[in-house]
Amino acid sequence: MHKISVINTSYNPEGKTMFLTNAFVRGFKSKIPDEETKIYHLAQWNFPACEGCLDCWFKHPGQCVHDDDFSRYIKHINESDLVIFACPVWVGNANHLFRNFIERFICCLKPIFEKNDDMYGHKTLDDVKIKEAVMITTCALPGMHNFEPVISHFKSLNYLTGIKTQTWLMKPQSMEMKYLPYTEVNEQLNALCHAAGSCFATTGTISDDIRESISKQYIPEKEYIDAVNNDFLSRFHD
Ligand SMILES: Cc1cc2nc3c(=O)[nH]c(=O)nc-3n(C[C@H](O)[C@H](O)[C@H](O)COP(=O)(O)O)c2cc1C
Repeated sequence: MHKISVINTSYNPEGKTMFLTNAFVRGFKSKIPDEETKIYHLAQWNFPACEGCLDCWFKHPGQCVHDDDFSRYIKHINESDLVIFACPVWVGNANHLFRNFIERFICCLKPIFEKNDDMYGHKTLDDVKIKEAVMITTCALPGMHNFEPVISHFKSLNYLTGIKTQTWLMKPQSMEMKYLPYTEVNEQLNALCHAAGSCFATTGTISDDIRESISKQYIPEKEYIDAVNNDFLSRFHD
């Protein structure tokens, strides 16, 4: 049985990032039907921030001092083969729920500094079965530069934890998913993310063609900016 955990860090369980992620998971399942998928919406969790006490390393190995939703669910998440993060960009980076989750994950690492490939980080505890993580991220502004901090943080998890982090999907100008008629852009993105999921399930990677088509900006930039700004202006109250 192949197990997948989806970690959604958007406050909107039916938002743009989960729309793409659900299609990716459906595509994956079309190739590996016997897998079990669990979706965790972090906005519904009660999980305070890591306070850096490191009791989880030195006093009670593997156990955080916070007895909360993170401590409850992480045992199941750690049994997954694959973790998929659905993460919108907030103020130029992965949002706080992603960062909180990753910082709390320190309790699943061994304290000793060890090399993963060529760089020092940590190994996960022996009961962590996660082999790989995938990042699916969206942002409202145009341009791929908006994803640099989030992808760079995601990639660093490879040497910090030993978990493979070499696959991500990025969708800029995400509000066009709302502005264009549903049948145009959302159907295309649905099909592309489905194709990405099935490609990933069979080859372990996603072709450049699919990734680039997902990152495409469907409305010309100037038109998009006008549409967003008009939308925002119409939302002001007197
Ligand atoms: C508090 C907040 C901060 C945001 N900051 C950025 C930002 O810095 N850059 C950007 O391009 N989009 C930003 N956005 C827009 C979201 O990244 C974008 O709408 C995303 O697609 C939302 O995904 P969702 O529908 O899954 O929640 C921000 C949204 C919110 C609510």
